[in-house]
Amino acid sequence: MLRGDSREDLAYAAGLIRRGELVGIPTETVYGLGANGLDEVAVDRIYEAKGRPKDNPFILHIAEPKEMESICHSIPERAWLLAERYWPGPLTMILPVKDCVPKRTVAGLDTVGVRCPAHEATRTLIRLSGVPIAAPSANLSGKPSTTTAQHVLHDMDGRIAAIIDGGPSEVGVESTIIDLTAEVPRLLRPGGITPEELVALLGELEVDPAVLGELPPDAIARAPGMKYIHYSPRAEVIIVDGSDEEAAAYIRKHIRPEDAVLCFQEELPLYEGCNPTAYGSRADNRSLSAGLFSALRDLDKPEIQTIYARCPQGGGIAYAVGNRLKKAAGFHIVDPREEA
Ligand code: TXA
Ligand code: MG
Repeated sequence: MLRGDSREDLAYAAGLIRRGELVGIPTETVYGLGANGLDEVAVDRIYEAKGRPKDNPFILHIAEPKEMESICHSIPERAWLLAERYWPGPLTMILPVKDCVPKRTVAGLDTVGVRCPAHEATRTLIRLSGVPIAAPSANLSGKPSTTTAQHVLHDMDGRIAAIIDGGPSEVGVESTIIDLTAEVPRLLRPGGITPEELVALLGELEVDPAVLGELPPDAIARAPGMKYIHYSPRAEVIIVDGSDEEAAAYIRKHIRPEDAVLCFQEELPLYEGCNPTAYGSRADNRSLSAGLFSALRDLDKPEIQTIYARCPQGGGIAYAVGNRLKKAAGFHIVDPREEA
């Protein structure tokens, strides 16, 4: 375990990156599993460590916005606009990729996801490494993402060379992904930069169908990762809609001793004796995004069969939280009012 606030540790980690090793890296969204994005052997190691399907490409992380020119071409004006406003920060842009980026990194696509993360330790690491760092979230494929160095250790112990501890990830859900190669900018994954903010800056935004619901099996996913199972603990996750009281009545009626409840802090008194876990306060959507993955990981225990979950409504970051929770549930949502 290395320290994100130690220049010496970061220099050591940069040496590992240059030698083609894997390093767990802190970002403001989630922890990443970093490798030299220009080295296809190193990139192959990420696929292996995560157990990730080879058709699912990686985001390249850069230390300065202008570095996107070294890996992307035909960069439109709106990409610079977004970079100026939201980088460093939780935004990934899909742009045409240059030939210097190995096919393995982008899984054979002619585009690349590029992001300038806000965490200073990782920006320093990228500078010291001298290469863009390819990094997916540092969880085992299909599992909830990692928001602390301990989560990374849990999933990756023995598979990677080092982990940089930079404290808990502040945002807690992965970056917003926007595809700028289409005529109209397209939201592929909601995150810390909200759809409202993007529309305000760009004037127009299409939302990819994969954000809204389950893709039919024959659909082509624009972000290849969208078609895979995501964020899933062992247990089945069921989202229960309705008011606090309606949901509590439904859950209390159906819950068995081997089940659990994932709810808002304010709802805890309604679930006494039902094994409840709160992931944040309903009054503070940022607390929900920061706490979601940690709570899902806590509930990833063999003895838990079903998790009844409460999901925030509305826009802003709550939209991203809802998207992750719905994916964890495989879009299984019940409305207690329909049963009544
Ligand atoms: O916040 C984040 O973005 C984190 C941190 C570590 O930066 N990274 C992350 O990476 O979430 P990952 O690999 O877990 O998710 C990246 C998603 C995948 O669904 C992938 O298919 C999609 O981005 N993606 C990557 N390159 C793409 C491309 N060229 N076109 C479309 N989608 C792409
Ligand atoms: Mg991921």
